Amino acid sequence: MSFEGLLSREFLRVVEEAAIAAARTMGQGDRKLSDRVAVEAMRKCMDALPMRGTVVIGEGERDEAPMLYIGEAVGRQRDEDPEVDIAVDPLEGTNLCATGAPGAIAVLAAANKGGLLHAPDCYMEKIIVGPAARGAVHLDATVKDNLTAIAKRLDRAVKDLVVIVLDRPRHEKLIEDIRSAGARIRLISDGDLSAGISAAIRRTNVHAVMGIGGAPEGVLTAAALRCLNGGMEARLVPAKPGDEERRRFEERLRGMGISDPHRLYTERDLAPGPDILFAATGVTDGALLRGVRFFGHGARTYSVVMTLRERIIRFVDTVHLDGSPDAVVEF
Ligand code: FBP
Repeated sequence: MSFEGLLSREFLRVVEEAAIAAARTMGQGDRKLSDRVAVEAMRKCMDALPMRGTVVIGEGERDEAPMLYIGEAVGRQRDEDPEVDIAVDPLEGTNLCATGAPGAIAVLAAANKGGLLHAPDCYMEKIIVGPAARGAVHLDATVKDNLTAIAKRLDRAVKDLVVIVLDRPRHEKLIEDIRSAGARIRLISDGDLSAGISAAIRRTNVHAVMGIGGAPEGVLTAAALRCLNGGMEARLVPAKPGDEERRRFEERLRGMGISDPHRLYTERDLAPGPDILFAATGVTDGALLRGVRFFGHGARTYSVVMTLRERIIRFVDTVHLDGSPDAVVEF
């Protein structure tokens, strides 16, 4: 039996708890604190889950992260429990949470063993589109050609497209190319994962995400895209320019069993499945998910849970009551 149905409620709880913990620190200007409390809440919540889980994308290598490090065993680990590979980003958009800006989320993806690429913590060049434009864009095509292809699939003009790009100096040329092709741009300070999910959902007014962001975020995006029928092309890239950096980057990839450092990945290569579960809860308000609300007797969270094999997308509005017998629930 697929673990998707078995664990979807449990994983929802994991991202909800991480989001609630992080949201308590919203606006305190301490991104490390926000991240730490989200990690701790997520880790604690995972212990009791009926699975033999292994973190394949997490907070870093064992020596640099005390919890949710790559290779860490999570869950009850009983023989009868399913084996699951897990990718986590307990707080995606640490700066967004620390400043109370929109778009921070708590995220988790799970797959059968081998169902998610074990991507190193480097950068990834990405182009992400929704179901209509899947297969129509290519990382090595020109920006203009890609935008023309997306516009054609969406039956609109290039000038009617909105492309999300991380606001970074490395994207100067990309931004220039999008502008000269005539499309509109939404620059974001952080959070290309939730941007990627928005691109795959109609009526979010996001038609593509382009540029270089984190590779772990790229794998998590791919897991969501598989469930939403979105499309993606991507390539791992080093953090900085220069020959020495490139040499070290390629050595690291070889150490992780990736022999071709120029390989082009699609969403299927990054998250092959066949069983995939993706869960995210809003920490601060975003285009897709509202942030955590605290009221006198608890908290309210807004999440999305998606499963690939079951083909179910749930938008979940949860009220978490504290122990008070006078707790009041509002509609
Ligand atoms: P954090 O949650 O770790 O702060 O990452 C946020 C983020 O903006 C990601 O969404 C994005 O993929 C990555 O950082 C981009 O990295 P950089 O800030 O180094 O350009």
